Amino acid sequence: MRLDKFLTECGLGSRREVKSLIDNKKISVNGNFKISSKDNIDEKSDIIKYEDNILSYKEFRYYILNKKSGYVTAVEDPRDKTVMDLLPDWVIKKDLAPVGRLDKDTEGLLLLTNDGQLNHKLLSPKSHVDKTYIAHTEKDFSEEDLEKLRKGVDIGGYITMPAEASKIDTNILSLTIREGKFHQVKKMVEAIDNKVIYLKRVSFGKLLLEDMELGEVKEINLEDII
Ligand code: URA
Repeated sequence: MRLDKFLTECGLGSRREVKSLIDNKKISVNGNFKISSKDNIDEKSDIIKYEDNILSYKEFRYYILNKKSGYVTAVEDPRDKTVMDLLPDWVIKKDLAPVGRLDKDTEGLLLLTNDGQLNHKLLSPKSHVDKTYIAHTEKDFSEEDLEKLRKGVDIGGYITMPAEASKIDTNILSLTIREGKFHQVKKMVEAIDNKVIYLKRVSFGKLLLEDMELGEVKEINLEDII
């Protein structure tokens, strides 16, 4: 692989920016600073350093984002801002895609990766990844409503799979589902004659939103996910 491509993929900046790092002797290959951005390196065996830090090449990258409302879950959109616009410069965007979808007005945990196989696997109907949402509802709900959500409700010709539902506070519901139908949580809440007015995803499988700030991004490892 070309050295400038490698450095760009490690997140050190654009081709022009990494060329300037090389010209300013910030980069070494096997201890050698007399290098050119066009040089070919072997990313598996050569030791490439940025100042004193060894740069390691990762084929697959995984990030979690605490999505803000007002951004669509897509890589590109002709009208709206997308979740990609929320990612800081240090995130390597090449081939990166969100895993699943949160609505434009939904906040919370979104996984993004360039690992297409994992993305596909996690979204497969067979994989049944648990996803927990906190929903603020227009009006309060009863234990009977929660029981209906647990057993499964009709969301327009489809009966939802058993779910976990509990009351956090007046008008605040915690709902864990194992599937991901279009607008599923909003439709489930409509099925108990209520309406979601705010929605946040707080977990996706093993991943937890915890105390991440709105708009914050963290790089994580595959072992954190599966
Ligand atoms: N269910 C919804 O209705 N919306 C989301 O964004 C996610 C789950």
